[in-house]
Order: sequence, then C-alpha cells, then structure tokens
Amino acid sequence: MLYLDNIALGDFPLLLAPMEEITDAPFRQICKEMGADVVYTEFISSEALSRDVEKSFKKLRFSESERPLGIQIFGNNETAMVRAAQIAAEAMPDFIDINWGCPIRKIASKGSGSGILNDIPKMVAITSAVVNAVGIPVSVKTRLGWDEQNKNIIDIALRLQDVGIKALAIHGRTRAQMYKGAADWTLIAETRNHPSIHIPIFGNGDVKSAEDALEMKRLFPTDGIMIGRATIGYPWIFREIKSMLLNGIPAEKPRMEERISICRRHLKASLELKDEKRAVFEMRKHYSGYFKHIADFKPLRIQLLSLTEFNAVDDFLLSLAEIQLEA
Ligand SMILES: Cc1cc2nc3c(=O)[nH]c(=O)nc-3n(C[C@H](O)[C@H](O)[C@H](O)COP(=O)(O)O)c2cc1C
Repeated sequence: MLYLDNIALGDFPLLLAPMEEITDAPFRQICKEMGADVVYTEFISSEALSRDVEKSFKKLRFSESERPLGIQIFGNNETAMVRAAQIAAEAMPDFIDINWGCPIRKIASKGSGSGILNDIPKMVAITSAVVNAVGIPVSVKTRLGWDEQNKNIIDIALRLQDVGIKALAIHGRTRAQMYKGAADWTLIAETRNHPSIHIPIFGNGDVKSAEDALEMKRLFPTDGIMIGRATIGYPWIFREIKSMLLNGIPAEKPRMEERISICRRHLKASLELKDEKRAVFEMRKHYSGYFKHIADFKPLRIQLLSLTEFNAVDDFLLSLAEIQLEA
C-alpha cells in the first residue's frame, strides 16, 4: 500500500489529472466510482483565492466520496501562495498540490505553472513556504524541465523532497514542448529510481488506453499513473486499466445504456453546481468521450452541440437509447 503521510492511496494508484473546466466535483465523483484512486481539483489561482474571488472558492468544494483528494493551487507570489494554501487547507482536503507544470502562456509568462522552471530557487522557496504553512501533505505536479537542454527534473525532485513535499507527479514533457511530441517517461522512471528519492513519483502523459497503462507500468516503473485527456467523457478508462493491471485484460466497454445514464447524471450534477449556460457549455467537452467507439455518433454530436438548454440536452441524451448505435 502506498501512503501520502498516513493517507492510503492504493497499491498502484491511478490518479485523475487536474484539468481546468473538466475535473469539477461531478466528474471527479464519477471517476472515483470507475476506479480512480486519487483525484485533484481544477487548478485554483492563489491570487484569486487570497482576494476572496467567489468563483475560486466554489472550486474548493468536494464531497467525502472523492477522498483522497488534492486541491491544486497555482501562482508565483509567495505570500499569495501561502495564504491560498491555508485557505485551501481549511476546506480539509487530503493534500494540497502545487501546479508547477502548466505551460499556458497567460500562466507561465507570469512565472506561474511551468514558468517557474527557469527559476528553481524560487520554485523551491515557494514550495517550502507552502509546506511550512499547512498541516497537511503538500505535493507538486510539474514537467521534465524548461526545455530540451534543461531537463533537470531529478535535481528538482531532490530539492523539493528536501523541503518536505510528500509526492511528485511528473508530466513527461518540457515547458517548451507544451503538448507537442510524445511524452517521454524515461526520466520519470529515472527520477523514481534515484537512490535518494523516497517520495512517491507518479508518471503522467499520453496514457490513452488500458494497454498504454500496462506498457508504461512495465517499461517505466513509477508509483502510480496519472491520466488526463483520455478520461474526458470516458471515466471508464479507470475501470479498464484496473482490470488490465489485475487480470491482463481490459474491462468490457460500457454499453450504450450506461453511457447515457452516466452522461445524464454528470449533466444533472453540473447543473446543481453551476448556472445552466455554463453547465451545458462545459459538458460539451465530454460528449466525444461519452460516446467514443460508437459508430455514427458524429452527426448526433453536432446536433447535441447545438443545444443550449439543459432540458433539451437531457431529452436528446435520453433519445439516444432509442437509436440503434453500434458500439
Ligand atoms: C483541458 C486541460 C486542462 C488542464 N488543466 C490542468 C490544471 O488545471 N492543472 C494541471 O496541473 N494540469 C492541467 N492540465 C494538464 C494535465 O493535468 C496533464 O498533465 C496533461 O494533459 C498530460 O496528461 P495526459 O496526456 O494524460 O492528458 C490540463 C490539461 C488539459 C488537456
């Protein structure tokens, strides 16, 4: 069993990667039921949290069934990061995660997210301040380094471990790569195997199927696998990976009935959390996933995307049960 301090994470945890406008509470709960061992909130701006912005406060909410859960914060100002971590800790998550990996220009250009990767002393100083400011474990999610010439993740991992982080998730790309090229897990496994590293190291990047997960586990040993894009609208990937790791075969693909029912539940739960326009809009990112592998879904998806009201979307989803779609 792997532990984060005294929090049991599972033998080989599967982690739902933090994703903005994706990993809200309704989606996290569904992923949990499908086998995700650890989930994270969407990233939350430390500046906004410490300034009391309501939208950011809403992102702190989660339910007990989601545990173990990490609240992820980002920023570049030590005071704001410390304050945000303390506010986040009051929501009683299992851990606080610091985002040192986001490559989006508006974040990284301000030295937040992966923007910190060219100032490691500052990254270490802020991380240390956050660790010392809260009484719960702190983890970090980052990338291999700034660019191809500066893949210094092993040094980063050692320094962050020294200041007290309890786990590290590594996305196998550099900041310069953004999302281009293939994720390289070689250095992730090397970090994990470094004799002085004793905290859990989680691998992330390009796991798209149960087969990929098995392959990564075999070729690049880590303490767990974090999955992002492949979960969008397809929470069943956790079930499939679990089955693959346990029995060597992936679980059966979900039947149409189950896809419709989980998708409708997701939509309904989103409506309870957000206003209708936002709930309907954000759900659009999930439809390709929910109806993945279903032949002839494309034209139906186009219709689905044109609907703007909850009732219309819900009725449409329900009507899919009547249509004979081949999985
Ligand atoms: C839509 C989207 C939103 C994301 N938001 C976040 C975020 O809030 N925090 C974070 O650490 N990473 C974020 N990421 C990065 C993912 O957590 C993950 O590291 C990346 O997608 C690589 O993993 P994958 O190949 O399994 O998708 C986001 C990625 C996507 C596609």
